Amino acid sequence: MPEELPLVLISHSLPAGWLESLQGRCRTLVGPDITTRLAPELEAQLGQAAGLFCLLTIRVDEALLERAARLRVVSNMAVGVDNIDLQACTRRGIPVGNTPGVLTEGTADLAMTLLLAAARRLVEASDVARRGLWESWAPAGWLGMDLNGATLGIVGLGKIGRAVAQRARGFDLRIVYHDPQRDAEAEASLGLAYLPLTELLQHSDFISLHTPLTPETRGLINARTLRQMKPNAILVNTSRGPVVNTGDLVTALRQGWIAAAALDVTDPEPLPADHPLNSLPNCLVTPHIGSATHNTRRRMAELACENLLAGLAGKRLPHCANPQVYET
Ligand code: GLV
Repeated sequence: MPEELPLVLISHSLPAGWLESLQGRCRTLVGPDITTRLAPELEAQLGQAAGLFCLLTIRVDEALLERAARLRVVSNMAVGVDNIDLQACTRRGIPVGNTPGVLTEGTADLAMTLLLAAARRLVEASDVARRGLWESWAPAGWLGMDLNGATLGIVGLGKIGRAVAQRARGFDLRIVYHDPQRDAEAEASLGLAYLPLTELLQHSDFISLHTPLTPETRGLINARTLRQMKPNAILVNTSRGPVVNTGDLVTALRQGWIAAAALDVTDPEPLPADHPLNSLPNCLVTPHIGSATHNTRRRMAELACENLLAGLAGKRLPHCANPQVYET
């Protein structure tokens, strides 16, 4: 009798061809296009599943793992793994895969896009033009901020933070960074200056967040840290929404503690349509599209498949977010 192929639950349906490498290697049960929780038909099969392929909107916690007694691998099609209880997976001997590297350039491009858009008030200005409210070229109309000569503060100098620094050099920004670990090589090759966080916040005209979401970074940007920023500062967030305290940011934007924010990630996500951040003229929100380019998303899916197949075969995942799992 040929051995039955392992069952893999795929939380969301993906464009044709993205999961090609799984063909003939496992049986798949695929969820809907858009969902924030496992579809009931997938839930019903959790107990039989050897693999789970999921997106960042799916919470993989104790409660889910308890119902997934045969699970051998979780493959997250994202670089961030804050949706997954890594310790719970490690305790159960389940490796968790993620997709670092392939979304670095796309996300850095979006961070610069948001920075430029906020600096030049692109959305506000475009909105006025599209609504036919633009009457004439006005000498003092739609004034924004220069990049050239301004200071960019990068919070979190991982791959994406570095890629943003590389791009920012082309705009003649002075670049400072903060990270728990100093990076002498990046300081020399990219001309970056290290600053303690408070000083970075006090001196930057643009602040771009590139930290993972961890207990240490949750709420890092709050009333206290927002008050340390310059009144002309523009905050860009392409990392994770909860790194910023939403209520405090609303106050900061309303009270003019800072000039503007450009957010690709929010807390909650999505924001309700009537949320103040959606109506403040000095806030720009995009729907978590940092990695949303054709090539990047396909590469993410391919990497996620590689991780998944390695886990099913009992091999080390090429990109494992909980390598401790191999120590026991
Ligand atoms: C996107 O936010 C990711 O973590 O991949």
